[in-house]
Amino acid sequence: MSKSSYEVKTIGIIGAGQMGSGIAHVSALAGYNVKIFDISDEQLKKALAGIDGNMARQVKKERITADAKDAAIQRIETSSALECMSDADMVIEAATEKEEIKRQIFNDVCPIIRDDAILCSNTSSISITRLGAGTDRPERFMGLHFMNPVPVMKLVELIRGIATAEDTFSAVRDVAVKLGKETVSSEDFPAFIVNRILIPMINEGIYTLYEGVGSVSAIDTAMKLGANHPMGPLELADFIGLDTCLSIMSVLYEGLADSKYRPCPLLVKYVEAGWLGRKTGKGFYDYSCEEPVPTR
Ligand code: CAA
Repeated sequence: MSKSSYEVKTIGIIGAGQMGSGIAHVSALAGYNVKIFDISDEQLKKALAGIDGNMARQVKKERITADAKDAAIQRIETSSALECMSDADMVIEAATEKEEIKRQIFNDVCPIIRDDAILCSNTSSISITRLGAGTDRPERFMGLHFMNPVPVMKLVELIRGIATAEDTFSAVRDVAVKLGKETVSSEDFPAFIVNRILIPMINEGIYTLYEGVGSVSAIDTAMKLGANHPMGPLELADFIGLDTCLSIMSVLYEGLADSKYRPCPLLVKYVEAGWLGRKTGKGFYDYSCEEPVPTR
C-alpha cells in the first residue's frame, strides 16, 4: 500500500446531521482541523452539542482524556456559509441521500474549494462515477462511506469512481486509517457492500411484519437472540432512518433492475406518514416514552 504525498490537515464536512456530526467527531479527535457547514444554524448548534455529549461519554468511560476532548472541540468550526470550505484539503459531503441535493451541493462547492482539494461523498448507495462526472474534478472525487454511529463503528468503505486517480484513493485511505478505521474497498455498484446486504435484510424484516409473520418485538428479538445481531432489523431501520432505508432500496431496485429489491409497501407508507424512525420520534417504535414502544 503506497502512502500518498498529499497532506490533509483541514477536513470540510457538508451537512451536520448524524453522519456529518460523527465524521466531525472522529476527525477532530484524530487531530484534523474541522469545518462543518450546514444551511441551518440550529442544526449546527445541535451537532456541536451532540459531539460534545458523545465525547463527554467517552471521557467518562476513560476512552479519551478530558484534554483530548477539549483540544478536539477547539479544532471544530461551524458555519452556514459554504465559503468556509475554501481552505479545506479534503471535503466530505454528508448531506441527505438524494442525488439532486448532492449534485447541487457539488455545483455550489466546487468553485469555492481549492483546485487540488479532494472531494468525497459519504453516499450510502448512489453511483460515485455519476456523482464525480458532475463535478469539475472526477479524478479527485471518490466515495468514503462511514457507518452509524461513526465514533463506534470500525469500518469505512472506499469507493473509486471510474475516473478516480490512484493518488486520490491513497490520500483518502490514509485519512481513514488515521481516523482509526478499517477500510474495505468496494466497486462502484449500487449500495456498495454493506448496504447491498444490510438494507435488503431490513426490507425483508419489514415484509415479515407486513405479512404478519411476527410482531415488531418478535422480529427484533428473533434476530437479536437468534442471529446475535446487536439490534433487530426494525430497531436498526429506525436508527438508520426509514427515509434513508427507502432511498437505498430504491437505488438498488432501479440500479440493478431486479424485482427482489422492491421496497416493502409498509416502508413506503411509514415514510409517507413522516414516521422516519428515531430522528422524528416515531417509526416502528414510538420514542416518546422512556422505553421505545412498538407502533403496531
Ligand atoms: N458516539 C460515541 N460513542 C457512542 C455513540 C456515539 N454516537 N453511541 C454509542 N456509543 C458508545 C457507547 O459509549 C459505548 O461505549 P463503550 O463500549 O466504550 O462503553 C458503546 O458505544 C456501546 O453503546 P451502548 O452501551 O450505549 O449501547 P449498545 O451496547 O446498545 O450499542 C450500538 C449501541 C453500538 C449502536 C449497537 O447497538 C450497534 O452496534 N448497533 C448496530 C449498528 C449498526 O449496524 N450500524 C450500521 C448501520 S448501517 C450504516 O450506517 C450504513 C448506512 O449507510 C445506512
